[in-house]
Amino acid sequence: MSHSYLKKILVTGGLGFIGSHTVVELQQQGFEVIIIDDLSNSSKEVLNGITAITQQTPTFAQIDLKDKQAVSAFFSNHSDIGGIIHFAAYKAVGESVEKPLQYYDNNLGGIVNLLLEAEKLNRSLPFIFSSSCTVYGQADALPITEDAPIKKANSPYGNTKQIGEEILFDVTQSKDIVNVISLRYFNPIGAHPSLEIGELPIGKPQNLVPFITQTAAGLHDKLTIFGDDYPTTDGTCVRDYIHVVDLSKAHVVALQRLLNQKQTSNYEVFNLGTGTGSSVLEVVQSFERTSGRSLAYEIGPRRTGDVIAAYADTLKANNELGWKTEKTLDEAVDSAWKWEQKIRGI
Ligand code: WQD
Repeated sequence: MSHSYLKKILVTGGLGFIGSHTVVELQQQGFEVIIIDDLSNSSKEVLNGITAITQQTPTFAQIDLKDKQAVSAFFSNHSDIGGIIHFAAYKAVGESVEKPLQYYDNNLGGIVNLLLEAEKLNRSLPFIFSSSCTVYGQADALPITEDAPIKKANSPYGNTKQIGEEILFDVTQSKDIVNVISLRYFNPIGAHPSLEIGELPIGKPQNLVPFITQTAAGLHDKLTIFGDDYPTTDGTCVRDYIHVVDLSKAHVVALQRLLNQKQTSNYEVFNLGTGTGSSVLEVVQSFERTSGRSLAYEIGPRRTGDVIAAYADTLKANNELGWKTEKTLDEAVDSAWKWEQKIRGI
């Protein structure tokens, strides 16, 4: 039985980095997409990038999910949505330490308001939640499986992901409002091969790869590597860097799992990573190899809150979700550099 609403998907935060790449993949799989975004960390220009790739312009509503009236009015006009992919959230770890209340208000208030409206639809809605490997903290064992213990978050940002998952789990246990898949991302990097969309960090980037590409573009004198005295192969921290296009495809696969009612429970979790750990120095070497340029860097002090190493056990995503990454670290780093060159006109 196919209803038209099965094909109309709400993507909150759909003008953001991972959101925009996921909108492209949804459209290319035949879904109609409606984007809600408050433009607090994105730009309407991204709609042009999406359209340039797919020749389809998603419907866009500039709404702050904290605004209950606006969210309610939206759902009154779009009671036929077939699913929600929820990205909209503040995501700067450091900023969350300085402004915890804003993070709890925005990130958790947004989820609650969405769920209150979903409840009014009186049908069980597929709901994909953008979560993070940060919920594991420094895992006791590597690679990290989905049943690794959740550790006390070391930032309000990380805590909003943990609490967000708990809210969604509790709601799935109460009554038929949503069926949920939480996707725990490792480290998303890179840009769409078309170079029509990519990462647009506001201000000085906290994350490694945009800082590398901005340094190479001349925006910073050098990269500071936060510590090289960790118990790893080369002393620098290890992460699982996943190409944003691979990550985005996983969202469509997860949504289709729920639309086709293939889930084994109303609340499922999948780690999304490559399964391979790369050190900071290995990422720098990947940049130098793929760009043919040397990168200026220095070793500085450790950054508070950094875990030593985190990379995904991908068996559950590969075998149950039926998804795996296809792009290499070099392809991801190369796409990030090509994107940086494009937006800086170099
Ligand atoms: C990676 C490594 C740094 C910058 C965070 C969030 C996570 C997700 C991704 C939102 C670390 C080192 C970095 C620099 C450096 N965010 N580094 N110099 O901290 O693993 O994850 O971003 O969803 O939830 O926790 O990513 O890119 O900040 O750091 O040496 O200028 O690069 O120490 O080892 P992280 P990152």
